Amino acid sequence: MNNPPVLISEEKIRQRVDELAAQISSDYADKGDVVLIGILKGSFIFLADLSRRLSIPRTIEFMAVSSYRNTSVSTGAVRMVMDVRSNIENRHVLIVEDIVDTGHTLKYLIGILGSRKPASIRTCTLLHKAESAEVDVRIDYIGFGIGDEWVVGYGLDYAERDRSLPYIGTIQPDDRA
Ligand code: PRP
Repeated sequence: MNNPPVLISEEKIRQRVDELAAQISSDYADKGDVVLIGILKGSFIFLADLSRRLSIPRTIEFMAVSSYRNTSVSTGAVRMVMDVRSNIENRHVLIVEDIVDTGHTLKYLIGILGSRKPASIRTCTLLHKAESAEVDVRIDYIGFGIGDEWVVGYGLDYAERDRSLPYIGTIQPDDRA
């Protein structure tokens, strides 16, 4: 099978992750340790690259959530599948997502993590589909805005395929069988 066409190249991703890391390092320079919380599965590659380029003290946590979807359409309901292992009270938290689409997942995460009294909570996503937003949610760091297209690679999948692709590619409806 052919690889999906390139939407965002490896080089562009690398440059943008460098820029995000520099911005985040500067913003958190006087705050001490930041807890990066990667949301599985999609964020695993972005989190790995971003975390290695930061110049500030940081620790890594993961959460997994599951959204109820009718085929590929989000119903807005989210439930936690795996929680972080540490107490985040009085700590600076940065949620790291691969993509924000309807915004339901990020809203749920901000709600649940915010209730644990962190010192601060910010959000970072590699990709943002602004046109698809269904809820208002604050995103502090955005890698790339994209249109309403299906994307794979750099951690993102379609039916678990193509997560390990080194770039962001697009999948056409005909490819999804
Ligand atoms: C994706 C992505 C976000 C969520 C965003 O996860 O990683 O967590 O969808 O969608 P929303 O803004 O519409 O809520 P997905 O459910 O595809 O799981 P995965 O990361 O394990 O592939």
